[in-house]
Amino acid sequence: MTFRQLSPILIVFIICSLINGDIDSSFNIPKNVKPIRYTLTVETNMEIHENSSTFNGSVIIELFSSQAASNITLHERNLDINRHTIKLIHYISGTELKVSNIETDEEREFYIIHLEDELLTNEYYNLTIGEFSGVMTYDFVGFYLAKYTTKSGEERNIAVTDFQPTDARKAFPCFDDPSMKAAFVINIIRPANYTAVSNEELLYTEDLGNDRFMDTFKQTVIMPTYVVAYLVSDYKHTQRIERHRIFAKPDAVDNGELDYALSTAVETLKVVEEYTGLNYTNTKMDLVAVPEEYFKLQAMENWGLVTYKERFLLISNETSTTEDIQSCVTNIAHEFSHQWFGNLVTFKEWRYMWLSEGFASYFEFYFGSLVRPSWRLMDLFTITVLQKALEFDSTVYTESMNNYKPRDIGSMPTLQISYYKASSVIRMAQHFVTFDILKNGLRRYLKENKFKSTEPKDLYSALQAIIDEENAHDLLGNNSVISIMETWDSNTGFPLVTVHRNYNNKTITLSQERFFSEKEDENNSTWYIPISYVYQASSNRDFSDTRAAIWLVEKSMTSADDFKSNGWLLINKQQTGYYRVNYDLINWNRLALFLNKNDFHEIHVINRAQIIDDAFNLARSGKVPYYVPLNLSKYLVKETDYIPIEPFVRFLPHLSFVMSSSEKYDIYRNYVIDLLSAAYDYVGFNEKPNDAHLDKYTRKAVIEWLCKFGHAECRNNALRKLREWKENGILSVSVDMKQIVLCNAIRIANTNDWEFLYEKAVRKSSTQYNEYYAALACSENEFILNDYLNRLLNSTILLNKDGKKIFNKIIEESDVGVKVGMNFIRNAIVPEEMQAYFIFVVSRKCKTEKQLEEMRLLASALPGDIPVDELISYNIEIIKESHKEDIENWLLKYNAENIESLNIVEV
Ligand SMILES: *[C@@H]1O[C@H](CO)[C@@H](O)[C@H](O)[C@H]1NC(C)=O
Ligand SMILES: *[C@@H]1O[C@H](CO)[C@@H](O)[C@H](O)[C@H]1NC(C)=O
Ligand SMILES: *[C@@H]1O[C@H](CO)[C@@H](O)[C@H](O)[C@H]1NC(C)=O
Ligand SMILES: *[C@@H]1O[C@H](CO)[C@@H](O)[C@H](O)[C@H]1NC(C)=O
Ligand SMILES: *[C@@H]1O[C@H](CO)[C@@H](O)[C@H](O)[C@H]1NC(C)=O
Ligand SMILES: *[C@@H]1O[C@H](CO)[C@@H](O)[C@H](O)[C@H]1NC(C)=O
Ligand SMILES: *[C@@H]1O[C@H](CO)[C@@H](O)[C@H](O)[C@H]1NC(C)=O
Ligand SMILES: *[C@@H]1O[C@H](CO)[C@@H](O)[C@H](O)[C@H]1NC(C)=O
Ligand SMILES: [Zn+2]
Repeated sequence: MTFRQLSPILIVFIICSLINGDIDSSFNIPKNVKPIRYTLTVETNMEIHENSSTFNGSVIIELFSSQAASNITLHERNLDINRHTIKLIHYISGTELKVSNIETDEEREFYIIHLEDELLTNEYYNLTIGEFSGVMTYDFVGFYLAKYTTKSGEERNIAVTDFQPTDARKAFPCFDDPSMKAAFVINIIRPANYTAVSNEELLYTEDLGNDRFMDTFKQTVIMPTYVVAYLVSDYKHTQRIERHRIFAKPDAVDNGELDYALSTAVETLKVVEEYTGLNYTNTKMDLVAVPEEYFKLQAMENWGLVTYKERFLLISNETSTTEDIQSCVTNIAHEFSHQWFGNLVTFKEWRYMWLSEGFASYFEFYFGSLVRPSWRLMDLFTITVLQKALEFDSTVYTESMNNYKPRDIGSMPTLQISYYKASSVIRMAQHFVTFDILKNGLRRYLKENKFKSTEPKDLYSALQAIIDEENAHDLLGNNSVISIMETWDSNTGFPLVTVHRNYNNKTITLSQERFFSEKEDENNSTWYIPISYVYQASSNRDFSDTRAAIWLVEKSMTSADDFKSNGWLLINKQQTGYYRVNYDLINWNRLALFLNKNDFHEIHVINRAQIIDDAFNLARSGKVPYYVPLNLSKYLVKETDYIPIEPFVRFLPHLSFVMSSSEKYDIYRNYVIDLLSAAYDYVGFNEKPNDAHLDKYTRKAVIEWLCKFGHAECRNNALRKLREWKENGILSVSVDMKQIVLCNAIRIANTNDWEFLYEKAVRKSSTQYNEYYAALACSENEFILNDYLNRLLNSTILLNKDGKKIFNKIIEESDVGVKVGMNFIRNAIVPEEMQAYFIFVVSRKCKTEKQLEEMRLLASALPGDIPVDELISYNIEIIKESHKEDIENWLLKYNAENIESLNIVEV
């Protein structure tokens, strides 16, 4: 499955409320029997009453008993099982084993069938559960309801499944464990005017009379329960191209909105087949567009019936952003990769989910890059996956890769590790063992383990076998695959490699320690770290060979430094290693000088991004003085490539938060504007037909900050767009830029302009949030904002969840917004639950003791716990430890100083 990252502030609160702990093995289901084949029959009731409906069914499970026992344990949740319809028959003799009693364990979701007689060892049985039923609601889990609106405004319901990780048990009684794989024969009973689809091809349909039809699907291959899927709907499907159809609401199919996704699917499946050397097992691969608001995550890899949020399959130039179009390609690549990694070869326990999600998250970029070569997806991987993993993996709350817990599905840290960290570690491995060895290792792993469930050591032994065959032990510094990889999958966090060049006696010391961004824990972990490096003085500055030149396996090591006096040393080519690098101050300054004075292109674009990202994060954690990243960042005045610009822009919210309480705020804003101006001049305000993929992201990022920080041309351009719209009825802005342009136009708009957009918002929907309401919240005019909140209160929009979004946006967009928001919660009369939310949102922006006092008082008048203290104390702490004075001092010199006088500490 795929999911989108949470904002960092949300993560802080989720993890604060999370109880870290070990995996509780008592939740493992007993394995005395093993399912071989399920014959599942489900009937849906598509008549919805009071937002719910029901389904009922029966299941026959053919079992193999590997161990004598007088009980069988299955999973179920919230099902109503008729125990009198349970029947257990010995396969050969046909004798029935009597059920003595049923025990249920709600916490573990066990359904235990106790028998009067023992199951024999190594015998087959048929377990029939003749009648069970369950409730379907709009709850995104198990077999559930979703709805969409037709062109003519009619509301239609569909029933669809989403089982990962442990929700199959909410749809039918089963052995809901990734190691208990089986084949499935699925029968769906539905009314005449609906269709049913499932993992496999439809075999035949029977008319059961009374408007009931039963569709029987071909038996599936052996697979885990969490990828079983069915859909009952009045959806239409596209024509079938090769193995693919897409099911979606009829209007979308008629309008051709699925053409892009369909052709992408056709291309992508072949790319995965070619890489893995194993053909896709099913004869069909259908895709389903589930209504946007009725899907837990982004997409789900059900074997042969992959489901996606609508936005990722319904693609048109008029409504899809560049990011949506990219996500269409990468989500298809992600879910298709899962057909091998996850479906064909499954992890043995949920703790090893990274064996599935790590590969899918890596290949979504890699296979995506083969399908869309010009998009530079592998460069994007570094900044959008690896560098983000380095961020959330540097707190005391993170977990190791081998520690995912399905019961904490709401707990993003362990989920993010399985996706972001694991895929970054896989990329690292691809670079140190080389591309072909990884590919051959994976081919071997898949071939050896197909239809089975694995642990990481199965992966490592397949890879080791190829290393042995190729006699390529030097790639690993003669370490084994497993000894290297275990340090990455079992240790929590990741290392900081510190480089100390001794400029007198020509030695260099490399050392490693776990990196923490804030609070530190005692930690003695060491990793097997592949080190690649480039010297400025070497004749060929080769950034392309990403094999390890050295393995750092001890806490520290010292060796000769051959290029003592000549320029910089740079470690971790193309940031392929999953770690940060710190240097002595001389080396940092040499890098800064080079970037600023020479042709910075001579340092690989990903390493430029790495330097910016590492340096700012090291400064934030107090490991280098702030002048280091600030000196380095000055080179960005020449940079036009998105890859190094993005980590800088990503750091700006933190820097701006710190500096917003500084008297030097204006100098700070000018510094940011200076740095981003070259990129702005390069991409321009308006979308161009020949824009490269990444230029579109650059434009969005740069314009957002420039306009926000008061760049006059930027703001005027935005306002001009709004006024042209007002005057001639045409808004000539690309889909990508619409929100940003309108928001920034509104910042400086007068009341007339604002009213014009307000009209548009209300006309679009007077009851629901839309992009215009969002833009209206960007005003920096106190009077307008205040009036806006009162109007919303009057129209009752503010009192539903949409109001929360608008209020949030007002607070996020400007300091004026914070001020108005504060006044509003002091004075307005809104329901308590709403007031609590408003206090929460405003508290996130508060950073003084005085504000803390006031918010405490406001919150104390309300029932429930608003974490005002935690929020504001956290902010106060951040400011206190932010090294604000260092930043201010640097900024003071910034205007006068040129690059010649950078602070160089030569020995
Ligand atoms: C099931 O049977 C086995 C073997 O007889 C026994 O060890 C186990 O405790 C039983 N489980 C339950 C839940 O009764
Ligand atoms: C067990 O169930 C399967 C699937 O429904 C059926 O084909 C088979 O005949 C059953 N065997 C016995 C002994 O009941
Ligand atoms: C299907 O038919 C039923 C009964 O005739 C009707 O209530 C329902 O609206 C129809 N549904 C669709 C999607 O056409
Ligand atoms: C995969 O399918 C293609 C086309 O159907 C066929 O030519 C090829 O031999 C198959 N490869 C394998 C490994 O089965
Ligand atoms: C968008 O328009 C461009 C240029 O006309 C075209 O090449 C591309 O295929 C279109 N994309 C989609 C998703 O329709
Ligand atoms: C080089 O100098 C450093 C720092 O003075 C010292 O720690 C190290 O032992 C020296 N190494 C050699 C080989 O002399
Ligand atoms: C780290 O190592 C030191 C010295 O070997 C030891 O005293 C300490 O207990 C270790 N700390 C942890 C958290 O393992
Ligand atoms: C709120 O609604 C009332 C009645 O429709 C109207 O008289 C009043 O002017 C409105 N107030 C605002 C702030 O729009
Ligand atoms: Zn996935």
